[in-house]
Amino acid sequence: MRLNWRYVRNLCIVGLQWGDEGKGKIVDYYADGFQAVVRYNGGSNAGHTIVINGRTFVFHLLPSGSLKRKRLLIGPGVALDPITLDEELGMIAKEGGQADLMVDDRCTLVTPLEKEMDSFVERLRGSNAIGTTKRGIGPAYAMRALRLTPRAGDLEKGEFDLASAVSFCKSFLREIPDLDQWKEKSRQVLAGRTGDVGGEVMKLNEAGHSVMFEGAQGALLDLIFGTYPFVTGAHTIASYVPAGLGIPNRALGDVMGVVKAYTTRVGGGPFPTEIHDETGEVIRREGKEYGATTGRPRRVGWLDLVGLKYAVRLNGASELALTKMDILTRVREMKVCVRYSVGGEETGDFSRALPRLAEAKPVYQDMPSLYGLELSENHLPRAAEQLVEFLEAELRVKVTLVSTGEERSATIQRHA
Ligand code: IMO
Ligand code: MG
Repeated sequence: MRLNWRYVRNLCIVGLQWGDEGKGKIVDYYADGFQAVVRYNGGSNAGHTIVINGRTFVFHLLPSGSLKRKRLLIGPGVALDPITLDEELGMIAKEGGQADLMVDDRCTLVTPLEKEMDSFVERLRGSNAIGTTKRGIGPAYAMRALRLTPRAGDLEKGEFDLASAVSFCKSFLREIPDLDQWKEKSRQVLAGRTGDVGGEVMKLNEAGHSVMFEGAQGALLDLIFGTYPFVTGAHTIASYVPAGLGIPNRALGDVMGVVKAYTTRVGGGPFPTEIHDETGEVIRREGKEYGATTGRPRRVGWLDLVGLKYAVRLNGASELALTKMDILTRVREMKVCVRYSVGGEETGDFSRALPRLAEAKPVYQDMPSLYGLELSENHLPRAAEQLVEFLEAELRVKVTLVSTGEERSATIQRHA
C-alpha cells in the first residue's frame, strides 16, 4: 500500500535552547491528536515534567504521552537504560495504566559500565567537567561506536558477550560493577517489548494515524551543532528523527520548537545571557529551575535571540510554543538579547560567535515589563503580546501556543 500523506500529519516537538524548555507539557497537551508518541534521541538524561491537578510526573525514558494512554515507542536512536524504564513502567502501573510500549531491538543499551565511565571521564576533566547527568549517555553512544555494547535485541536473545566491554573498561576502571544481575533484570524488562519501531511508525501512518516525535534536550546541546564540548552525547535536532528511527525524511512532518520565555542551562559551558544577580534567583525560585533528573540548580538567563535564530534554522521549526511566560511576571526587569559583542565586533550569527562564545557579551533590547500581569485569561495582556510579536518578527516563525503555568489548562492557543 502506498502512503497517502494528505491524511497523516506527524509532528515533532523539539527544544530550541539547552534543554528544560517544557517539552513534556507541550507533548502532553497535544497528545490527544496523535495515535503514538515516539522518543527518538537521548536517553534517561532527559527529564520531562507533566503536572496534572497538582500532581507532578517526571519521565526520563517513557514518552510523555504515557499519561494519555498513547501507543509508546522508543526508537533505535535512543540510549536505553532498562532499569530506569522499569521504574517508569512501575509508575504508570501505579496510576492504574499499562504502558502500550515497543522498544526498538537496535536500541543501544546503557549498562552499569557506561555509568561508571561517565563519572570517570568527568573526574578526568577536573575543572573542565561538563556536568553531565551521569546517566551514562555519552559513554553508551561511544561504546556503540566502538561496537562494544549490546543492543536491546541482543540481550533478549542472550547472544551478546559483554567480555570485551569488561576487558576494555578494566583498563581504566578500578572496579567493575556487577553485570549479571543487570543482565537478568534488563532481559525481564525488555521481554516481549522489542520490535521494529520505524516499521511501526510507518504502519501507523499507512493506516491514517499521525504520530508525534518527542525530542529530548535542546538544539544547543547537540553533539555536532551545539556548544561543544559542553553538549550531550547525541543529536538533539529534528533531522535526527528520520535517521534515529529509520523512516523517510518526509515522515518527519511539522516541527514545533519549544522555547522557554527565559533561558536555563544545567552544567558547564558558555552562557552569554546568564543572570548573576537577585533577578536570576527570583526566576530560579519562581520557575522551580532545579534539574528534573539531577536536582541541580539550573543557571538562569535572559532570552537569547541569537541562539534561537540558529536553533530555528537547525530544526526547520515552522512554529513555536513559548513556555513559562508567567514566571516573567514576577520580575520587574524584562529584556531580550538581540546580538552578541565578541572580539570588538557585533554579530547576530551564532555560528560565527560559537568559537568564542565564552567571551561573547550580550547586546540587549529592553522590553515592556511583565511584572504583576495576570496571564490566566484567554488572551495575553498587551505587554506580553508585544513580546510574543517581537519574537515572531525576529525569528520569522509564528508562536502558536503560550504556556502560562504548569497545568494543562494554563495554555493559550494563538493562530488557531
Ligand atoms: P531534557 O530532555 C537539560 C545536559 C547536562 C550536561 C550536558 C551533558 O529534560 O531537556 P549528558 O548527561 O547528556 O552527557 O550531559 O547536557 N543535559 C540536559 N540539560 N535538559 C536535558 O534534557 C538534558 N540532557 C542533558 O546537564 O550539561
Ligand atoms: Mg531536563
